[in-house]
Amino acid sequence: MADGIRFFELNTGAKIPSVGFGTWQADPGLVGEAIATAIKVGYRHIDCAKLYGNEKEIGYALKKLFEDGVVKREDLWITSKLWCTDHEQEDVPKALDKTLQDLQLDYLDLYLIHWPVSMKKGSVDFKPENLTQPDIPSTWKAMEALYDSGKARAIGVSNFSAKKLGDLLEVARVPPAVNQVECHPSWQQPKLHAFCKSKGVHLSGHSPFGSPSTWKFKCDILENPIVNMVAEKLGKTPAQVALRWGLEMGHSVLPKSTNEARIKENFDVFDWSIPEDLFAKFSEIEQERLIKGTPYFVHETFGAYKTLEELWDGDL
Ligand code: A2P
Repeated sequence: MADGIRFFELNTGAKIPSVGFGTWQADPGLVGEAIATAIKVGYRHIDCAKLYGNEKEIGYALKKLFEDGVVKREDLWITSKLWCTDHEQEDVPKALDKTLQDLQLDYLDLYLIHWPVSMKKGSVDFKPENLTQPDIPSTWKAMEALYDSGKARAIGVSNFSAKKLGDLLEVARVPPAVNQVECHPSWQQPKLHAFCKSKGVHLSGHSPFGSPSTWKFKCDILENPIVNMVAEKLGKTPAQVALRWGLEMGHSVLPKSTNEARIKENFDVFDWSIPEDLFAKFSEIEQERLIKGTPYFVHETFGAYKTLEELWDGDL
């Protein structure tokens, strides 16, 4: 399977580039330069979010790249996400407009509900008292209006369990095109993968290395012995193997880096593949969800989810 796997087709007919450039925790001051490097290396997909606090700087970088003729807007895929404080119907279009203003764009290729969690309008702190009851069907109606307007050419969700995605599909006029979730060799999500596939929803994998800098105390995909064994056999790095595994599983991958060498390394995943016998080894990797959403989103008194089981509908 020495297949490039450059794109995946969404239920809108659009083609999402399979390797996206992650910008979570890409610090302002570094992210603009990293975006310019990534585009020059060949990335055509950038994964943003209001929460990441760096959309303005990404916007300046994109503007310069367009002005300098490095890339055209129509050749890029830009995703952003609706934050939990903006779930009310009247706030959804305002949130998109702010993101478009910051990114200096007229439209997004994909706009996602960031979490199935809502927080008080205007709140900035991750305090349990700020959690409110999400009304996803209502928020989704506002997302559908953005899709109709053309300002968001595709809409979707992020961090939704199969159950929550299924509930949304029951009421959606425009079905979500994407569910962006944690997905990597240590959290492979086979059930969610199968569910998304059966419903025509593309799974996009965030934190393809398990976000090692955030969760240092947790298992690190890049240190995993099986990933390392495969990397050694193929003469690739563990990061490349983790990414290539994702592409061959059928999901897009969103590696984040602000380091030039690693940005390049993470894009060198197209002209080789993992042979079947080595691919099979990934099923032996111990599984653990690393990004649980706690302590922020789960509380016995506030918000919608009293336990992690409720947030993830038992898929832990
Ligand atoms: P850096 O930005 O210094 O490269 P994830 O995408 O799962 O959130 O992981 C991002 C983390 O992984 C960042 O700390 C990033 O650091 C690091 N990282 C990105 N690419 C690589 C790579 N090829 N090898 C090792 N670490 C990497």
